[in-house]
Amino acid sequence: MDKKFYITTPIYYPSDKLHIGHSYTTVACDALARFKRMQGYDVMFLTGTDEHGQKIQDKAAAKGVTPKQYVDEIVATVKDLWKLMDVSYDRFVRTTDDYHIETCQKIFTKLYEQGDIYKGEYSGHYCKPCESFWTDSQLDENGCCPDCHRPVYEAHEEAYFFKTGKYADRLLQYYEDHPDFIQPASRRNEMIAFIKQGLQDTCVSRTTVPWGIPVPFDPKHTMYVWVDALSNYISALGYGNDTYHDYDRYWPANIHMVGKEILRFHTILWPAMLMALDLPLPGKVFGHGWLLMNGGKMSKSVGNVVNPEVLCQRYGVDAIRYFLLREVPFGNDGMFTNEALINRINSDLANDLGNLLSRSVAMCEKYFGGTVTDQGEGDAALDAELEEMIRDLADCVTKDMDELLIPQALTEIFKVVQRANKYIDENAPWALAKDESRKARLESVLYHLCEALRAAAALLTPYLPNTTPKMAEQLGLSAEDMQYEGLTYGTKHSYTVHKGEALFPRIDVAKEIAELTRQDEERRTAAQAANAAQQAPAEETKGEALEHLPEITIDDFAKCEMRVAKVLECENVPESKKLLKFKLFDGERERTILSGIAKWYKPEDLVGKNLVIVANLAPRPMMKGKYVSEGMVISAEDSEGKVTVLQLDAAIKPGSQLC
Ligand code: MSP
Repeated sequence: MDKKFYITTPIYYPSDKLHIGHSYTTVACDALARFKRMQGYDVMFLTGTDEHGQKIQDKAAAKGVTPKQYVDEIVATVKDLWKLMDVSYDRFVRTTDDYHIETCQKIFTKLYEQGDIYKGEYSGHYCKPCESFWTDSQLDENGCCPDCHRPVYEAHEEAYFFKTGKYADRLLQYYEDHPDFIQPASRRNEMIAFIKQGLQDTCVSRTTVPWGIPVPFDPKHTMYVWVDALSNYISALGYGNDTYHDYDRYWPANIHMVGKEILRFHTILWPAMLMALDLPLPGKVFGHGWLLMNGGKMSKSVGNVVNPEVLCQRYGVDAIRYFLLREVPFGNDGMFTNEALINRINSDLANDLGNLLSRSVAMCEKYFGGTVTDQGEGDAALDAELEEMIRDLADCVTKDMDELLIPQALTEIFKVVQRANKYIDENAPWALAKDESRKARLESVLYHLCEALRAAAALLTPYLPNTTPKMAEQLGLSAEDMQYEGLTYGTKHSYTVHKGEALFPRIDVAKEIAELTRQDEERRTAAQAANAAQQAPAEETKGEALEHLPEITIDDFAKCEMRVAKVLECENVPESKKLLKFKLFDGERERTILSGIAKWYKPEDLVGKNLVIVANLAPRPMMKGKYVSEGMVISAEDSEGKVTVLQLDAAIKPGSQLC
């Protein structure tokens, strides 16, 4: 058996505080890492922060601090959160660490010297929030970023390119030879389709983003953040640096765990880089789904984030860990709601697990002064099923964990817990206790419950690391009793138990929801007040951090021909929910423009209006070439994503140029 296990989380952008959606990936990796440690594996669990790029640079500038000061502060809060949530990482990599920079520079130089990186000119579209470059054909139907659907901007600059395209066939072959490499399987098909549509080389340097790792042989360039970020998985083991010496011990990684939106970087760019470096590829890249709230991905910019610290303080860390690991089918999206969280805590943790422990311990104390042994009187008909389930449990859970079926693994453990609760009802120990001649049978019943609880406690440790020591204490279990190897029925012969506090107090659902609604209301009112204050004239200068484009000269601006155009006709595009099709008069001729504003406007409301268009934008085919958009209608998008079309006074003559 390969006894090493190297698992990685994505490294987090320290651009905002982390929310519960971020905790999801890391807690899942933590459970897997803890499970493998329990099985005796030599585990390396890596996490960290991805600290370069334009976004960080902008945020730091808005705060009036250096990028390094900015990230230092947030990285400390990331580490605090992992400590709070009992994330047992072995190593924390920061992309601003010297050793990581050294590794990235060596990788870049090697790839350049062997011809896998070359110098060229970049011209295309760049999405700043995603830090991604896109070609024409990759943009969405509105000409926006295919991932986040926000506007992209044109970029032309000298740049280095990595020959991703050269590796297309090898990648496809690799996927075929290693069917488990990309998981879940549906995502594998998406990646295959993406490569088959034609894999472009990747632009891997920028001259306009100073906050990045300099290209060592051409330092006016900084490395593309994804090349920098992905290299963390080997820099943190000491590849290309002398800070660590674990590369041979742990590489290739067993699992890269990532959210589905960043799967492509991990299954195309990263393996292609590894192929170019002649290094082995990771065993598996698992693209998990998102935690959703109010129907959308939880994210700061949408404003639907849930703060993990608040949740942990209110319900306890293990309750939150349990909810994350149990509620969402691993690989799919899942919904976060207060009701779902409270119901999980009540039904699984308080009722099933907590009650089983407190009833069992109470009966051992009441009927046997706290000590029960395996010397009681068994009853094959009544005991066999529970015994068998206890015997099989470790194997079932292990099989699920090996297949990354984390919620199923928990379900298996809770099946035993539920079966044990049913066993209490079937055997009615309180009735046995009334009959002195049934004392030996009563002891056997209680012994069975203790064995079920021991197996559950030991196997739940990777998921509920704070709760199971409390269970062990009440059951009088030693570390040896909890060992993975001994988790079969009948290996511990005697129990001396001590009653303790309830593991998970039951929550009054109605009262709790009322309280949470009240708190939400309070927060909303406070946010509205803050908003109103922000709009007040005295506060006008206290804006939010905006994302900025690189500085341009007046000559750059003069290249943009913006004119007033009158809307002659406007209609929805039948093939698209987002697009409106305009016929406009620009003072000289009629032109057609498609614009992604259907969500905010009825076509008839815009007919006759004077709008502003970019008149010298190259015509762009849209909807697979069915339409050609001859320019762009200027709108304003606020930080919540609401779009308002710029409308001018009806008296202004179409064709007038904005200056
Ligand atoms: N920095 C990159 C990763 C580079 S890895 C070489 C990044 N960082 S991130 O902070 O934006 O996201 C980190 C992880 O959190 C990603 O896997 C992302 O999918 C995950 N999540 C962020 N929001 C999430 C939810 N709402 N739900 C589940 N996971 C989410 O991407």
